Amino acid sequence: MLGSGAREHALAWKLKQSPALNALFIAPGNPGTEDLGTTVAVDQNDPSAVVALVKAHRIELLVVGPEAPLVAGVADAVRRAGVPVFGPDAAAARVEGSKAFAKEIMLAAGVPTAMTRVFTDRDDAAKAAAAGGPIVVKADGLAAGKGVVVADSGAEAAEAVRALGRLPAGQTVLLEERLTGPELSVMALCDGARAVLLPPSQDHKRLLDGDRGPNTGGMGAYAPARLLDDDQLEHLRLTVMLPTLRVLAERGAPFRGALYAGLMLTPEGPKVLEFNARLGDPETQVLMMQTADDLLPLLHAAAVGALPERRLRLEPGYAVGIVLAAPGYPDAPRAGLPISGLDLATPSDVVVFHAGTKRDASGRVITAGGRVLTVCARGATVSAARDQALQHALRIEFEGRQLRQDIASGAPAL
Ligand code: AMP
Ligand code: GLY
Repeated sequence: MLGSGAREHALAWKLKQSPALNALFIAPGNPGTEDLGTTVAVDQNDPSAVVALVKAHRIELLVVGPEAPLVAGVADAVRRAGVPVFGPDAAAARVEGSKAFAKEIMLAAGVPTAMTRVFTDRDDAAKAAAAGGPIVVKADGLAAGKGVVVADSGAEAAEAVRALGRLPAGQTVLLEERLTGPELSVMALCDGARAVLLPPSQDHKRLLDGDRGPNTGGMGAYAPARLLDDDQLEHLRLTVMLPTLRVLAERGAPFRGALYAGLMLTPEGPKVLEFNARLGDPETQVLMMQTADDLLPLLHAAAVGALPERRLRLEPGYAVGIVLAAPGYPDAPRAGLPISGLDLATPSDVVVFHAGTKRDASGRVITAGGRVLTVCARGATVSAARDQALQHALRIEFEGRQLRQDIASGAPAL
């Protein structure tokens, strides 16, 4: 497994429970994954370094967590070396790496999405933006969550075009119709042609309670988020996931990995805001707690093109995950702060997943990134799961700890 976030810790935690697992290697991993497998150092974005690692440890399945190695062609190189990979080749990972490419695929696949114009000339884009009303401005490339501006006026949109143009990712920009409605994340395990949906989840992107403050990578999530019923989810699988896989395959870029559709549930129905070519973070943390199926055979089947077309088996109830972030996150997170409370006994329905943590010279766990931990809990109801997660999260302390107390409070009451 490649990666070092709480998403990868959660995947490793789930894979470790598989009776089919022989050995688990995690590269580069984090202090939370130490007990789940063997930690190995690697530059995860360097295809030849990853191929060498896979060969040295006789890896039988590579699971790629983050998008950067996928966009860098790591999956291509490892597949070429004859080892199955859960994670798409670079050509298919472009659904995340280029928003213009994603739009082109959505149009070809008939996937409902916001109307968009793509500009390679930023002066033209700024003129078009200034002429419009509320509009969304997006950088084409990967921009670590900083590539989208939802503008309230033409002037603000034109300014956003200029600001995004200063990013390497913003040499091509998209102007998009502004949609309204609740957001929902729906992910599917895909084998190039078939898709098995994971339960729908909701992420909380803003830093502060009440959806205030700056955008982040995600401050918490819960699942299942019952904003669509089973029939609507099946419809989504048939009209979004499968046609997208078909169009990518026709273009010689079969998608084997996790396809993530970021949806807005508009008055006209669900529309896709974005695709990601990997599992979401922090969504995966709660999804792994809710998945009853053995994950390993499913990831392997996706990697080799033999996914069974059946529904995933789930645990009853709900899971809620609360992110503990470092002071200064998202702009300038402070590293090196000692974390207390990690050795506290956790109730059986609570799991603490590590992300930006490391050990100092004396072996103490300290902060080493923006999102430090995700504290997850299961419960019979959303609020029981949230209360349990929050209670435990508040017992884990470091200077300036940031967390949201309202994760999942907007969940439909059931
Ligand atoms: P993206 O990275 O494309 O998902 O965009 C990040 C966030 O911007 C989304 O989670 C939405 O909140 C918002 N957003 C993106 N596209 C649109 C749109 N067309 N209309 C309204 N909000 C949007
Ligand atoms: N939580 C949003 C993402 O993983 O892109």
